[in-house]
Amino acid sequence: MNDADCIAFLQWALPQLDMRWPGFRKVRRQVCKRIARRMKELGLETVDQYQAMLADAPDEWRVLDAACRITISRFYRDKHVFDVLGERILPALFETARKEKRPVRCWCAGCASGEEVYTLAILWDSHIRPAFPCVEFDIVGTDADPVMISRAERACYAPGSLKDLPPEWLDQAFDKSDTEFCVAAHHRRRVTILSQDIRYEMPEGPFDLVLCRNLVFTYFEASLQRAVLERIAARLCPGGYLVVGAHESLPDGSDRLQALTSCREIFQYLERLGYVPDGS
Ligand SMILES: C[S@@+](CC[C@H](N)C(=O)[O-])C[C@H]1O[C@@H](n2cnc3c(N)ncnc32)[C@H](O)[C@@H]1O
Repeated sequence: MNDADCIAFLQWALPQLDMRWPGFRKVRRQVCKRIARRMKELGLETVDQYQAMLADAPDEWRVLDAACRITISRFYRDKHVFDVLGERILPALFETARKEKRPVRCWCAGCASGEEVYTLAILWDSHIRPAFPCVEFDIVGTDADPVMISRAERACYAPGSLKDLPPEWLDQAFDKSDTEFCVAAHHRRRVTILSQDIRYEMPEGPFDLVLCRNLVFTYFEASLQRAVLERIAARLCPGGYLVVGAHESLPDGSDRLQALTSCREIFQYLERLGYVPDGS
């Protein structure tokens, strides 16, 4: 299957999976390789044969759906976002939670191998916890891919995943072997990893902070984006925050989520329309 055949196939198949081709344009090679491997397993020589097979085999659509998961991630991805979270957003959330005598709750949707989840856990332990020793931080990471889930549970990474981390974190937060870095046990104790497909299942709210980056607002088509966003918003505390990817925007009709002027990837969930959050 050459690149042009794969593009034509994806442009035909993705809308039927409620996904959008533009999200896949740059990363299509990962998906094309998986489709070629699948065709080989099935003894099919051309993409037309695979397309014909899909017409008769509804279960094959599930295999194709799983082949379309893009799983790229790394620690501290989009440094400026984690800087704003660590300097402004988390301290404000912890101050509120301290007054209300409750933990701060966070959900990372599409958490891949746990890179975001443990970035937040380490950020909390090293920078926020000393100022708020009595407030816990509960972090739940969800992903639909079983391989990602087991990697997130194991929490061990090749050095390339850690290249954006502040260098001092490498010494303080990981146990090192010759080939990999494993997140130290004390950073993992308030983290829960769940196998969930965000289209059908979500963890129970309310959450003070939700990270949904490089998944829904890149790969899902517009009406699915709106439907998922509505269910995410229903899980946000009033005044809570939603973080999206650096190249993502929210679908039309998201008026209650207001982007911070200092960081356009972070949105505050407004209690009522017209309310302007402080210090954005
Ligand atoms: C590109 S990665 C993004 C990882 C991380 N959020 C980041 O921005 O670095 C997308 C992740 O979403 C997961 N995913 C794809 N479809 C999903 C779905 N329907 N429900 C939950 N997770 C999904 C993939 O398995 C993958 O781990």
